[in-house]
Order: sequence, then structure tokens, then C-alpha cells
Amino acid sequence: MTQDQMKEKVAEAALAYVVKGSIVGVGTGSTANKFIDALATMKDDIQGAVASSEATAEGLKKHGIPVFELNEALEKVGKLSVYIDGADEFDGGKNLTKGGGGALTREKIVAAGSEKFICIVDESKKVDMLGAFPLPIEVIPMARALVMAEASKHGGEPEVRAGFTTDNGNIIIDVHGLQIADAPAFEAALNHVPGVVTNGIFSFQGADVILMGTQDGVVVID
Ligand code: A5P
Repeated sequence: MTQDQMKEKVAEAALAYVVKGSIVGVGTGSTANKFIDALATMKDDIQGAVASSEATAEGLKKHGIPVFELNEALEKVGKLSVYIDGADEFDGGKNLTKGGGGALTREKIVAAGSEKFICIVDESKKVDMLGAFPLPIEVIPMARALVMAEASKHGGEPEVRAGFTTDNGNIIIDVHGLQIADAPAFEAALNHVPGVVTNGIFSFQGADVILMGTQDGVVVID
């Protein structure tokens, strides 16, 4: 099975977690795109979706799935039943790193507005320790040098993502060469640096269930 086929399988498996009649939170990236295709097959069974990026909103609309603003959806239904998204890495504690596509802040907000986070990945995303994938940090532009200096103190090599602006009008700093042994502590420490909007560690908003695509089929980690 190719990596693409594994992504399709986990995307299809995630449909089992979609609550009929609800508004679904939808993530960003190539695996989330497969989920959007799968969700289209049951679009008449849901009220609609909240998108974690402009790209995802566009994909949902192309399939005729109604897209709600998060505030509007939360005022209507309290919390979203489920948030479904990919990840760049996950560890044995279901901590994640995300943001390879730069949508980490909206992803974290939509995840926080959902009862459950179902993470859909292929087996290449499994790691013993987070940090091999460069950790994205969304930063208000005037804080660039400050945040880069702080990231260096933690042993990382920060690099501004060239030519990239987030949906919120900010920059992304990717931090290479980290070894993140204590994901909640590191997530909190980075978020305390002034100018950091958020960072790509999802430990406080970690996955409730991970659906991992393997050569032998979908493995459920809960
Ligand atoms: C987007 O900002 C990211 O958080 C993605 O969810 C993550 O990078 C996984 O993307 P792929 O499914 O494309 O690997």
C-alpha cells in the first residue's frame, strides 16, 4: 500500500467518528484533504463543518459542504462533536507536532472547540520523541528576532519560513534539531515568549484517538 492509500484508509475510517446532525471540525493538509473527500459522501447527514484554514474552507465548499465560522458554530451547538486532522509527528503519549502546512493556530483553536480530536496519520508519523520534524511557531512579525533567540536557547536552530504568511497575517519560524522529551512543558515555555501566537506542539490539545494507516490496515490508538 502506498502512503497515499494509507492516508485514504484512515480518512475513510474517521467517518465512523462523525456524529450525524453535527458540525464537524476539519483540519488542514494532505491527509485532511482525503478526509474532506470522504466527508463529502455523507454531507447530507451533517449540518456542516468548521475549517482550520482558508484552504480547507475552499475544499469543503467545492464539495458543497456548508462552512461555518467557529464562533457561529459554537454559539449554535456549544462544542463541535469532533475535530479530525493529520499531524507531522506523534509520540506514545498521543502528543503531536503540527503546522507543517502553517495552519497550526487555527488548528489548535478548532481542536480546543471540539469534544474529541481524532488524528489521522500514516505510520511514517510515529516517533519515540517529538522534534525531528522542524517545530513551527507562529509569531507576530515584530517579535521575530526575540523568538529566534529564545528558540536557540532551547538547543534548536530556528529558521524563518521563506515567503510564507499565515492566514492570520503572521510569520512562521521552523525550529530544527529539537528533542522534545517533555511536550507539555516545552509547549507552555514557548507560548510564554511574547510575540508567540502559538507553537506546533499539541499536548494540551493532544489527540484523543489516533488512526494510524499501516501496510496491514488501520490501527486504532486510544
Ligand atoms: C497543517 O498546518 C498541519 O498541521 C498538518 O495537519 C500536518 O502537517 C499534517 O499534514 P499532512 O497530512 O499533509 O502530512
